[in-house]
Amino acid sequence: MNSEISIKPFRECRASVTPPGSKSVTNRAMVLAALAGGHTLLEGALFSRDTLIMAECLQKLGYMVKLDENERTVEIDSAFGCIPNSEAEINVGNAGTAARFITALVALRKGGRYLLNSDDAMYARPIKGLVDALKSQGAEFEFLGEENRFPFRIKTSGLRGGEVSIDAGESSQMLSGLLMASVGASSPMTVKLSGGTVSKPFVSMTMSMMEHFGFKCETDGTSYKVAPRKAGIPPMSPSPRVYRIEPDATAASYFATLPAVVSGVCQIKNFGECVLQGDSAYIEVLKSLGLADAENMDGNILVFSKDFPVRPETVEVDFNDISDTFLTLAAVSMLLPFNLRITGIGHTRRQETDRVAAVARELRKFCETVEEGDGELFIAPYTRGELLKKAKAETLVHTYGDHRIAMSFAIAGCADIRGDGSSWIRIEDPECVSKTWGEFFEVLYTARKDSKKFRIVAVDGGAAVGKSSVSRECSRILRYMHVDTGSHYRTVAYGLLENGVDASDKAAVASALSKLKIGAMLDGNSAKITLSGNVVPDSEIRNERINMKVAEFAAIAEVREFLKSYQRSMADFGRSNGFEGMIMEGRDIGSVIFPDADTRIFLDADEATRAARRAKEGISDSIKKRDELDRTRKTAPLVCPDGAELIDTSNMTKSEVVRKTLSIILES
Ligand code: DC
Repeated sequence: MNSEISIKPFRECRASVTPPGSKSVTNRAMVLAALAGGHTLLEGALFSRDTLIMAECLQKLGYMVKLDENERTVEIDSAFGCIPNSEAEINVGNAGTAARFITALVALRKGGRYLLNSDDAMYARPIKGLVDALKSQGAEFEFLGEENRFPFRIKTSGLRGGEVSIDAGESSQMLSGLLMASVGASSPMTVKLSGGTVSKPFVSMTMSMMEHFGFKCETDGTSYKVAPRKAGIPPMSPSPRVYRIEPDATAASYFATLPAVVSGVCQIKNFGECVLQGDSAYIEVLKSLGLADAENMDGNILVFSKDFPVRPETVEVDFNDISDTFLTLAAVSMLLPFNLRITGIGHTRRQETDRVAAVARELRKFCETVEEGDGELFIAPYTRGELLKKAKAETLVHTYGDHRIAMSFAIAGCADIRGDGSSWIRIEDPECVSKTWGEFFEVLYTARKDSKKFRIVAVDGGAAVGKSSVSRECSRILRYMHVDTGSHYRTVAYGLLENGVDASDKAAVASALSKLKIGAMLDGNSAKITLSGNVVPDSEIRNERINMKVAEFAAIAEVREFLKSYQRSMADFGRSNGFEGMIMEGRDIGSVIFPDADTRIFLDADEATRAARRAKEGISDSIKKRDELDRTRKTAPLVCPDGAELIDTSNMTKSEVVRKTLSIILES
């Protein structure tokens, strides 16, 4: 009996997700490491059903493959790149890459005899194009079930090279497998494409990776020339050759879509490393449909929700180049206020399952109209009201053993369509996600933010460490309220000085304070302190007169006490103005004002850097003197509070500090 999982909807996400390594890259890298010879260390590898199958296939062929799941590394020893075992029984499960790549790889062995078996689901998946190409190079096949299908025996005699044509229209993996194996042919191989179009980004990925492993492959778009590797000589490269697997861009698509479904923000870490995978372009689709905003922070990408645009026309998107992600968008289309036509997905009918038919069947449970074309889907969603009526009970989504159907519909199911957090989608066979991301549901669980909570972020540090610019930028990105407490002290100092009160006269300060009328108003997402109902202009509080005096006033216990209650009241002010949280910057926010803040950060920088920053801003500031006073005062001195995250910004650019700060906020 398959298990089921109810998806618990939520209101807002605030997630920081590191996608697992890419399946496509991991499985290509294993094959290329085997072909390249010598010792290869793969870092950041994906550990999932499909990659374990690939590792096991290579082990069965006699390669030394060592897996370390904790370290996410795979070590492959392949001596001179030749297949050690001339006989083996291999099971490729339902892993498309293993099925095609291993079939092509074993063809390299002279005098090889292999039995290639698979899961039943693979019996229906295409391999004929590759079989024909390998036959023309001398391989002999004996099919144990249907002709040109798994399972089969294969007698191999090496690849001769020369010209070979392949119809890879049904799966580009057949072409990728043949190209990689071609490096082991006896003479240069020219692979010509016959038949339908192939998913180009995946072939480009194969070619880039071949080049990285020291192999030569060139194309003019219809034919590919592969140079044979030098027999018996591993390519010149350090030993071990280290290859870093990039994060899985398809896996990233789920969390990139989540903010559109539940609102909020999701950070996808190391997304900038996704250069080989076409699927990284999915974020552009979300942006172009107006479903999300994205901000690239030095390689980490932050995806934000936007209000859905209502469109009168059907929106058409061609997913041919990024077809693994069509399910992600299709599943959430039930929530969109416009009709969607997805094209270019005919080949996905022959993937883990007939994806077009399967997605259509499941979407019909939630949409007014779902029409299937050969290579396309038309989806007309219900209005929200109608969807609510439809989704009265929990609806079971069948997954057909397809990890992508499970993950895509799970994202849709996070939408709180009833507004009471009750579940309306149940996913059948959730374990099927282990094909590429065993921890998917756990990660999804951590993405839910307690939406009732107002989050407080304290950012402390001395003058000119970059507090203000970083806090402002992070507040803007997170849509939090920003509070600069330095301006509170400056405004109070200004008010007291205007009343003729000097910091040396404590009694006069105390009595003048009680007469100061301070309040708050919003300027964009910035909370400004007001004095007698007005914000004191910057020119009045950010000048050398105030710079010289403010630290003296700030050292007075009565002044700090006066501002403490005001600053604490800012949480209510932010909440009542609809903010989800605030970033309050100052000197004692994490130590005195909000010692229990959700996130406490302390910024520091060496003196030279700070002086240079002020000089660049064209500001003359007695930083050193102020800092000395701030650090040594009795009440609430400037300290890095226990347990706060310390960031030394001296050798960091502003955007690096912003990126680091955002990561800390989103992960705390
Ligand atoms: O951040 P700033 O330079 O605008 O701050 C001006 C002064 O205010 C600073 O020298 C010390 C004081 N201050 C403080 O004591 N505590 C805070 N939380 C913020 C500022």
